[in-house]
Amino acid sequence: MRMKDRIRQLKAEKGAIILAHFYQEPDVQDVADFIGDSLDLSRKASETDAQIIVFCGVNFMAETAKILSPEKKVLLPVYNSSCPMAMMINKRRLLDYKAKNPDRKIICYVNSYAEVKALSDVCVTSSNAEKIITHFQHEKMLYIPDKNLGMYLKDRYDLDIDIWPGYCRVHNNLKVEDVVIARNKHPHAQVLIHPEAPLDVLKQADYVGSTRGILNYAQQSSHQAFVIGTESGMLYPLQKACPGKSFHILKEPMSCVNMKKTRLTDVLRALEEEQYEIHVEEGIRKQAKKALDLMLELS
Ligand code: 13P
Ligand code: SF4
Repeated sequence: MRMKDRIRQLKAEKGAIILAHFYQEPDVQDVADFIGDSLDLSRKASETDAQIIVFCGVNFMAETAKILSPEKKVLLPVYNSSCPMAMMINKRRLLDYKAKNPDRKIICYVNSYAEVKALSDVCVTSSNAEKIITHFQHEKMLYIPDKNLGMYLKDRYDLDIDIWPGYCRVHNNLKVEDVVIARNKHPHAQVLIHPEAPLDVLKQADYVGSTRGILNYAQQSSHQAFVIGTESGMLYPLQKACPGKSFHILKEPMSCVNMKKTRLTDVLRALEEEQYEIHVEEGIRKQAKKALDLMLELS
């Protein structure tokens, strides 16, 4: 039996659902029941009736699903698929900061681990960060861990906000000259960039938004060509959603090695052997869930 058919059969037998981030390999996206950005996937994980969730993404995403749905079995097909940005902050350093700055609200990007979310007031994703920040805009804040999304928010809303110096290597590498070169090469294209890119680069964009935001924008736009400033996996769902339009990556390579670790064979093994199961210590989970619940309520 073909591997994709075997995956579909096992999924049905076990009552499982496969969730995949837009950056996953095309054949992994093809077997998924639902593909989306971080916010979409969190919502889907909390709403599904399926008792097994196979999460094709990086580990903070699967962990978020487990925090929201502790009664479900959440499986990550590749044990060590982690987001380097999420590792740029930890509990000890955040506790240290909080002891020195007890009056600051902690605004936590979902690209973070449970023990960090547990010490935060609210979580945000790149889809809802602007909306959520406006609820706190008259308070003193700390934004963790992505300096670029933090700088983008600070610049737009004139906030009293400290910014943690974390970053995503894939997006932080972008430079203004890359946009200049891409615009010269594709003069009729619109430039759409993820807010994990540096502020000076974002200021060159026609649109700044999450992966879902970029997809929606391209679908609704009357333009026919786009330069995409995010991980290259995004080209596949864009091309599928907009067959007549053309998409070009802003800079080569823009590839997240951790997102690309998941293969079809890993998805199959995850279903066959029900591995690798995500666990979160209950005290931490409950605290982290408060920050995620507030995010879902405000977004
Ligand atoms: P999105 O929430 O926009 O999908 O972003 C997730 C991510 O990891 C971007 O690098
Ligand atoms: Fe993390 Fe960047 Fe990969 Fe997104 S693209 S998962 S932020 S390393």
